[in-house]
Amino acid sequence: MSVSHPSHPPAVSLADARAALLKRAARDAMDYLEGEDNRPVAPTPQAVAALSALRGPLPPGPTSPDTVLHLLHEFGSPATVAKTSGRNFGFVNGGCLPAALAASWLVSTWDQNAAFFVQSPTAVTLEEVALDWVRDLLGLPVGTGGAVVTGATMANFSALAAARHALLARAGWNVEADGLFGAPPITVVVSAEAHASVAKALGMLGMGRNRVVQVPADGQGRMRADALPQMDANTILCLQAGNVNTGAFDPAYAIIPAAHAAGAWVHVDGAFGLWAAASQEYRKWTKGFESADSWATDAHKWPNIGYDCGVALVREPEHLRAAMSMDAAYLVQGEHREPSYFNPELSRRARGVELWAGLRSLGRSGVAQIVERTSSHARRFAAGLKAAGFEILNDVVINQVLVSFGSSEKTLHVIERIQKDGTCWCGSTVWQGRTAMRISVSSWATTAEDVDRSLAAMIRAAKD
Ligand SMILES: Cc1ncc(COP(=O)(O)O)c(C=O)c1O
Repeated sequence: MSVSHPSHPPAVSLADARAALLKRAARDAMDYLEGEDNRPVAPTPQAVAALSALRGPLPPGPTSPDTVLHLLHEFGSPATVAKTSGRNFGFVNGGCLPAALAASWLVSTWDQNAAFFVQSPTAVTLEEVALDWVRDLLGLPVGTGGAVVTGATMANFSALAAARHALLARAGWNVEADGLFGAPPITVVVSAEAHASVAKALGMLGMGRNRVVQVPADGQGRMRADALPQMDANTILCLQAGNVNTGAFDPAYAIIPAAHAAGAWVHVDGAFGLWAAASQEYRKWTKGFESADSWATDAHKWPNIGYDCGVALVREPEHLRAAMSMDAAYLVQGEHREPSYFNPELSRRARGVELWAGLRSLGRSGVAQIVERTSSHARRFAAGLKAAGFEILNDVVINQVLVSFGSSEKTLHVIERIQKDGTCWCGSTVWQGRTAMRISVSSWATTAEDVDRSLAAMIRAAKD
């Protein structure tokens, strides 16, 4: 096939042009990865300013794909955050595993729509397998089903939609058909330290961000089991496995039996913490969470699958299906599990393939080792900062460290200096009234040397 007009010799075949473009993309990607170690984690102000080259009105005519790629690498690459460098400790951000990265190239090449089996037997099969691997790694009951979504926010949304369906169906109300106006009331119980995404999910579901009963938390951010309200069969209780600041776990083993005795639905936001169940050493923190009714987690956090990839799991998946299905004459149920019936979206990226590839490359021991290695790096950070005279505000139980460098002003100033220095990147938070720097060791690529280099940069910034 020729893409050249006869008047424009020499003719370049479409296949040759595409191959050259993809080879160039691979070269640019490798160039990017090789350069990551020698550049600041956060982009320089100059690199961010240079993004203006990518602005402007849509050109009236086409631009060659080669030029498009050139623009992306020349101006886009330098203004990214070096996420896979091993020294990015912001938010709870992992770095994409090699197998997941390579799989995502292939997934993009395949351009599958992972809505129905008939649209992509490969994507749907691998998603089904990966979902069961995740269930197994998290120690959840056989028969649990779920959805691969964009992240824990959408996983919370999807699982809470299933909870809403189940409770209202029990009360004789069809919420999908009739909405929440006039429905029997649902009481939602959350911890004072619930992640903001739970409130957002409740808001999107019409249950209200603020229409919740809040249970006080202790000094580590754990829900207080001795302060639970009355619950009943119209209650959704939201627990947390892994506080975004401290990494602490709600005492599920002490709370869930009481909630279930009252007939409540228990949902767990375990965006990163639930993965501790994959490690024999850290499994103690997830004790009891397996008896909940639904769970939300992220594969782009601890397992380092790359953005974006979250997972919603529901013990009785028919509730998720009831909340998420839709009917149209052209959407036909085949013999297989149809992802679209369990997901908020219809058309969707085949992110389950990257999940399958990343988990397959790690195996059970690989997932456990990421949990163990990053948590041990977190302890190394805490010990180094403590030895240098700074205050660690949390019990470092997994991969999260909170450090104060003194007053709020001083801590914010040190964080700014650390970010500008570029050796590593950490963000700020306010923990129970105190300004702190958050260190989240979430990347498979972080080494002890990365920790020591970063520690030296932190101590330099705090002492200069
Ligand atoms: C405990 C918890 N829940 C939910 C989320 C939201 O996850 P996502 O950004 O993937 O939507 C996070 C993000 O850090 C989190 O730590």
